[in-house]
Amino acid sequence: MQAHSDEMRCLGKKIVFVPTMGFLHEGHLSLMREGLRHGDYLVVSIFVNPTQFAQGEDLDSYPRSLERDLELVEKEGAGAAFTPRENELYPEDFQTYVSLESLPRHLCGISRPTFFRGVTTVVSKLFNIVKPHIAVFGEKDYQQLIIIRRMVRDMNFDIGIVGAPTIREPDGLAMSSRNAYLTKAQRPAALSLYKSLLKAKTIVQSRIIKAARVIDEAKIIITAHAETDIDYINVCDPRTLDDMPIIDRPALMALAVRVGKTRLIDNVLLVP
Ligand code: PAF
Repeated sequence: MQAHSDEMRCLGKKIVFVPTMGFLHEGHLSLMREGLRHGDYLVVSIFVNPTQFAQGEDLDSYPRSLERDLELVEKEGAGAAFTPRENELYPEDFQTYVSLESLPRHLCGISRPTFFRGVTTVVSKLFNIVKPHIAVFGEKDYQQLIIIRRMVRDMNFDIGIVGAPTIREPDGLAMSSRNAYLTKAQRPAALSLYKSLLKAKTIVQSRIIKAARVIDEAKIIITAHAETDIDYINVCDPRTLDDMPIIDRPALMALAVRVGKTRLIDNVLLVP
């Protein structure tokens, strides 16, 4: 992959990179399309990264569909798909990790304390292997996006990071490979995440209010459904992820909720 990227760079290509864990959906495809607006040689990686799963999480059952994924990647006009095996990225004596100080200690990082270390480690490795000029990440994983931006800045990776908007199902559910776990009966519960975010947007519109007010409303909407278990609902500064008790400037409202065994996340920007 490194030799191939060197060759493409010598040919004057601008390499855009979309890292994924596969089981591709419209959200991933939109990242690829966004990528091709910023460069002319698209590389997509497909790798279910073990270091971002903790013991007891869904590493083994994570949905996989490599053949179908490769067809989709080709259809989107990618020049290459990078699909390493686990022992190629993590040989037996692997012992170097990349981690950030404070950004991972918020939101998802509280209940998944080793998750972002796994993400930043594998993304650093993929950046060094794929050697892109630009990489695209979805805003659905907002915390991941700003952690990658910070890592790129702090570690002087010579790569531009592009954020792409969340793609939703027609009913509003944010697209995610994990949606495949949801049963039909769980769908209304899954939708309650976005409904609570929309409600918050309406409440906040054109007034300054306490974050607790929108968080309480969200809790009511979500817990009205059986099988929901709230991990967190937060209103925070979009740059630092520090709590914002008063929404007197644009704030990120982010939440993570378990619906049955499926952990879902979503977020919106609240603008008073
Ligand atoms: O967002 C994802 O799918 C993963 O966290 C990523 C960036 C591909 C790293 O494994």
